Amino acid sequence: MERIIIGNLKSYLSPKEISLLLEDVENSNRLVIAPQSPYLGLIRAKYPNIKLSAQDVSSIADKYGAHTGEVSAGLLKDLGVSYAIIGHSERRAANLDNPSTISSKINHCLQVGTTPIICIGESKKDRDSGNYVEAILKQLEEIKPEIVGDIIIAYEPVWSIGTGLVPSSQEIEEILLLLRKETKSLDNNVFLVYGGSVNVENAAEIIAIPEINGLLIGKASTDSDKLNLILESTNSR
Ligand code: PGA
Repeated sequence: MERIIIGNLKSYLSPKEISLLLEDVENSNRLVIAPQSPYLGLIRAKYPNIKLSAQDVSSIADKYGAHTGEVSAGLLKDLGVSYAIIGHSERRAANLDNPSTISSKINHCLQVGTTPIICIGESKKDRDSGNYVEAILKQLEEIKPEIVGDIIIAYEPVWSIGTGLVPSSQEIEEILLLLRKETKSLDNNVFLVYGGSVNVENAAEIIAIPEINGLLIGKASTDSDKLNLILESTNSR
């Protein structure tokens, strides 16, 4: 798999800003854009070739039903949304996601053929106390039974998201090797990406880590100039 660049636009952009971003960003097969859910259908209609990810998905299995506010994996699939971010630390912290809902979401995505991008990462406290491996393994064990299809795991240290702090390449590689080892016995493809304060300056170095399959980028992906430079600097990998 070519190394993918996933832009998690979070709730940063207005409709006008999203349009400008999409007009200006390089048309790359390696790029996946994750906008706020109301934009998914609009973008799909206007830009049929852009690969899309949802930022979340319903934990309820039904494609349609009496589920106010929910967006099902089946509906995403029909809209041509190929990926869904699941278990982002911002959602875990706000109690919108827990191990049980995360497992259901992964399961529903895999049932319909949408690739889950599952976020895993240790807190600052776990990193500082040296318990980060245990914290990551715990999150992995919680989702392992659900891995019955191809998935992406995003290693996103919570202390790195939006802070400008980035682990060293060795520290990222340590975790990617751990995730690789722990998922080796599964029959499915597990792709590994890194997320947390990726920017124009560090993207090329991070993408050069041998085990990595791509990057999950928040803030820097909302700026078309930065996103284009990141696509360019990671292109030869
Ligand atoms: P950031 O966010 O690049 O702004 O640190 C990454 C993420 O939360 O996925």
